[in-house]
Amino acid sequence: MRFSKKMISASVAAVFLAFCSTTTFAEERSLYERLGGVGAIQAVVTKFISNVGGDARINGYFKNADLKQLNKHLVNQVCQATGGPCTYEGRDMKTAHKGMKVTTAAFNALVEDLVAALDTFNVPEKEKGELLAILGPMKADIVEVP
Ligand code: HEM
Repeated sequence: MRFSKKMISASVAAVFLAFCSTTTFAEERSLYERLGGVGAIQAVVTKFISNVGGDARINGYFKNADLKQLNKHLVNQVCQATGGPCTYEGRDMKTAHKGMKVTTAAFNALVEDLVAALDTFNVPEKEKGELLAILGPMKADIVEVP
């Protein structure tokens, strides 16, 4: 049997499509997956809250906080925002931080504590940058005292 050019290109296309549908390219994995899933996010959030608790620059803001609830909300928020299978059920950022008089310096200190938590678990620069790029824009709703 002779193969026509058309048959050959159809077969090449079929093999290519099969390859595409079974192959997960690194770039296609969600940030959630690349961070290591909900277990890894939980570990980072626990360390982050502990860092904040030990940070005299900002721990005063949290003196009446329900840390168990905060932990749960943060895990779901990060999980959902990075493409994971979670649902954030807390308040929107503006409502949650209303009246706290969070300053830019306090916001930056908290980001430092988060970066330290991410570094504790050796989260690579790329994933760290992507997570900070998701959280950064929330600053406008959180900081009340520039
Ligand atoms: C991107 C940065 C931040 C994120 C993603 C974030 C996220 C959250 C979330 C999800 C909650 C829980 C909302 C709820 O209870 O419905 C929360 C509450 C809170 N946040 Fe933030 N926050 C950020 C920055 C800050 C900063 C800079 C401060 C102060 C320095 C702060 C202080 C608080 C406090 C005191 C609470 C209330 C806890 C409680 O009443 O139990 N947050 N935040």
